[in-house]
Amino acid sequence: MTSEPRGLAVLGATGSVGSTTLDVVDRYPERFRVVGLAAGRAGERLASLVERYRPEVVGLGSRREADRFSKRFGARHGVRIVGGPEGVEAVACWPGAETVMSAIVGAAGLRPTVAALAAGRVVGLANKESLVAAGPLVAKAAASGGGRLIPVDSEHAAIHQCLAGREEPPRRLWLTASGGPFRTATREEMREATVETTLRHPTWRMGPKITVDSATLMNKGLEMIEARWLFDQAPDAIRVVVHPQSIVHSLVEFDDGSFLAQLGAPHMAVPVQYALTWPDRIGTGLEPLSLEEALSLDFHPPDPERFPCLRLARTALEAGGDAAAVLNAANEVAVGAFLAGEIGFFDIPALVGETLGAHEVGEPGTLDDIVRADRWARTRAASLLPRMEVAAC
Ligand SMILES: NC(=O)c1ccc[n+]([C@@H]2O[C@H](COP(=O)([O-])OP(=O)(O)OC[C@H]3O[C@@H](n4cnc5c(N)ncnc54)[C@H](OP(=O)(O)O)[C@@H]3O)[C@@H](O)[C@H]2O)c1
Repeated sequence: MTSEPRGLAVLGATGSVGSTTLDVVDRYPERFRVVGLAAGRAGERLASLVERYRPEVVGLGSRREADRFSKRFGARHGVRIVGGPEGVEAVACWPGAETVMSAIVGAAGLRPTVAALAAGRVVGLANKESLVAAGPLVAKAAASGGGRLIPVDSEHAAIHQCLAGREEPPRRLWLTASGGPFRTATREEMREATVETTLRHPTWRMGPKITVDSATLMNKGLEMIEARWLFDQAPDAIRVVVHPQSIVHSLVEFDDGSFLAQLGAPHMAVPVQYALTWPDRIGTGLEPLSLEEALSLDFHPPDPERFPCLRLARTALEAGGDAAAVLNAANEVAVGAFLAGEIGFFDIPALVGETLGAHEVGEPGTLDDIVRADRWARTRAASLLPRMEVAAC
């Protein structure tokens, strides 16, 4: 008996994870039907995706972009075009979308992720910023609406697989980090980092924001907070280890001293596809990891002096409340300014640290509380930018 293809909505369809998601659809057209797409801008890439997949609904991050897109597509293919944050939320809860890939970058992904979970959807979660900013509220939306989160980050997908079907609680979760482009760089070399050298990631091809986060190791910091809420673990049970080969995607340690790890070639196609086909495992068409050739696996602790973002993320993780929302928002401002050439590499942790230090931790009860903390942090971080021309930390 053949089953109907599952309706899929892809939020962040024009991005790196969005494209990898649509590759899975191309590989298995009998399994998926794209019913919704969402992106930030009304560009050529989105237009070509609409032509190719003929979704029922397209959401754009702003009404202005939606108007631009409507002028182009309004009368064609009967596609409904919606704009602004509510428009993107409508795509996330579109009636025919049983599975939602949440792959918008940054805090803009929070409300659509919550909306999809509250509407009972299976959500492939790439947008780690939503769990970072509002972990307990995201979990509550899933519990009340019957939605289910399947991690897409390769580290969390690895832990999810190591924990599957196990009763015993883990002692610690170990997130592996490639170390990024500056793993072996001196502090002086990092101080001179340009946008170009920072975006030259040795292992992963990703969007610009997460690539900068990988260079500062803020990405690993955000992933610690993501793991705290995804796997309901205490902050001190979540650890980071540098593993340059990016073959062990993460590990789980148990009380008897055993470790379970998930290994594979470093390619996002694997966790993205697994989130979409879970619990099925099917071919990706990729060359598998070969164990018939010599293979070294190195592990070493991260250097807190050169990667202060990791310490800042741990401070926010331990503080709880809205501290992680503030960390995340300040980091988005800092990374945006770095990519625009306005500040230096070490100004990123300096800006985040100053913003976090000036914040009084509150206990957010609603998404509006999170949005208020996020706005406060953005305003505060932006006000510090003029003082940051000299890279110092
Ligand atoms: N890339 C990876 O390998 C990877 C791995 C693990 C986790 N992640 C996580 O996945 C998320 C996406 O990363 P990425 O690398 O795919 O980013 P990316 O390539 O920069 O793509 C971001 C996507 O978000 C869309 N977008 C931005 N602002 C929006 C808004 N306000 N409303 C609607 N859509 C908006 C963009 O649309 P436009 O193109 O139109 O601006 C684009 O489609 C991030 O949270 C990242 O941390 C990524």
